[in-house]
Formats: sequence, structure tokens, C-alpha cells
Amino acid sequence: MRVTENLSELRTIRRALPGVFGLIPTMGALHEGHASLIRRARLECDHVGVSIFVNPTQFVPGEDLSKYPRTIEKDLALLGSLGVDAVWTPTPEVMYPDGYQTWIAVDKVSRPLEGAHRPGHFCGVATVVTKLLHSFTPDRAYFGQKDAQQVAVLRRMVADLNFSVELVVCPIVREPDGLAMSSRNAYLGPQERNAATVLYRALSAAKARFDAGERGAEALRDAVGEMIAAEPLVTAQYVSVADPDTLEELPEAASGALLSLAACVGETRLIDNILL
Ligand code: PAJ
Repeated sequence: MRVTENLSELRTIRRALPGVFGLIPTMGALHEGHASLIRRARLECDHVGVSIFVNPTQFVPGEDLSKYPRTIEKDLALLGSLGVDAVWTPTPEVMYPDGYQTWIAVDKVSRPLEGAHRPGHFCGVATVVTKLLHSFTPDRAYFGQKDAQQVAVLRRMVADLNFSVELVVCPIVREPDGLAMSSRNAYLGPQERNAATVLYRALSAAKARFDAGERGAEALRDAVGEMIAAEPLVTAQYVSVADPDTLEELPEAASGALLSLAACVGETRLIDNILL
């Protein structure tokens, strides 16, 4: 496994890897969710690259970039064991050198939900993913359904800007009690960790109502909201039933609709979703 911070060295490493190339962009603090993307890429591609970069431009004011977990030695050991060929660990100066001034703004699909609560977040994501795609030139790039709006924004960007890459979306990996794996789960205290299980329980209960015939989006959103409200350590920020591609809110839930939420568990903001 070749590891570098340097862009020209990355390009040299990449040129020596023939065949179908798969990229998994990450911010590190790797867990089984990231590993599932890498395993899938290993099955489908001849060579696999991973980026580890805690992207400052996707953190919005009030979010603590310096607190984001950084576990680089452990991450590299995991990537080695998964058979990754190339790892790029750029520094902020490599990614955004002095004088940097180019941004990718994906318009409508970036606005609701996460975009409404984290203004500018998706501009940072779209910009850094563009730079990662240009640096690795992968045939396929792997993303998790965990970040459903991120997937929708990047799909739009790839189509609109004629990127020649196939986006592959992988299912959410959960802890045995249902909590979606996330690097931010490390912030949770023991009581908060326990309370956080309400998120998936609420999504699953609403999906069960959908499966039993409920189609009213408001009824489904309310069912989720009420279960979360009953958990004192958890405060919902939004609950949404939306079109999974446009993220427009739906009056009637339909098969394939995206039921998603964001909630604060203590100080920690978590997101989760389920497809109806
Ligand atoms: P990060 O949060 O590190 O996630 C990297 C990838 O892993 C994303 O595609 C995310 O959806 C996926 N992932 C995270 N938790 C998952 C889980 N429990 N199950 C399945 N997949 C999961 O997302 C980012 O980084 C950044 O925004 C990035 C795309 C790297 C741009 O900076």
C-alpha cells in the first residue's frame, strides 16, 4: 500500500495502477461503514484508492473542526489489512493552497435538510469531491447511503458537469442495536449512546407503518418526531419524507421515498435515514 500527502506523487502512484480503479473518499476515523465501501470496491475494481482528509470547507461556523476525531495510524493499519493500493492524506495546504478561490455550488438539491441547517456544507463537499475525483481519476467512486443528501448532491454534480465516473452507493452499516455507524458516535457518553438508538427505532417504526399502508407523509414524520420527543436526551432537528433524488418534500409517501432525520444527542448532531 502506497501512502502519500503529495499530489504529484499520488498521480505517479495512480498512473502505475492499470484497470478499473475505485475511489473511496473519507475523512478518516474509519469504522465498519467505511470498511464496507472499501470491501465492495475491492470486489468490483482492479485497484482501490482511499483519501483521508478532514475537509475544513464542509464544516460550518459553530462546528468544531479541531475536535473531529483523527486516528491516522489506526486508519492506515485498517486500510492495509483491507488491501487498499493507494492512500492520499493531503494537508489543508495541499488541498487549499494560498490564493485558492474556486468553488462548486450544486443549487437546489443542496438547499433543504442538511443544507438548510449547515449552510455552505455541500459547497465544501462538492468542491473537495471534485478535487479528489480529478486527483485520482477513478472509474468508480463509492459513497454511503448514510449521507443520503450528499449522494443526491454528488449525483447531480457528476451529471451536470459530465464527470466520467460511476457513483456506487452502499447500504448503511449499523451497530447491533441499530445505531448507524458514524465517526461522530465517538462523542457520545454512555447514556447518550443508549438514547441515540431511538433514531433507528423511530425510523423503523415509521417504515412499519408505511409497510402497513400509511401513505400520509405528515403522519409518518409525526410518528418519528413523537418517538424522538419521548427520549429526553435527544432533540430532532428535522424529519423529512422526500424524493431521494431532488430532496423535495412529498405530501404522500411512495415506495422508494427517503425518510430522513437529523437530531442532537446532547451536543452531538447525528443523521440517519431509511428508504420506504
Ligand atoms: P465520511 O463521513 O468519512 O464518510 C466517508 C464515506 O463513508 C461517505 O460516503 C459516507 O456516507 C460513508 N459512511 C459513513 N458512515 C457509514 C455507514 N454507517 N454505513 C455506510 N457508509 C457510511 O462523507 C464524508 O466523509 C465526506 O463528506 C467526504 C465525502 C469524504 C468529503 O469530504
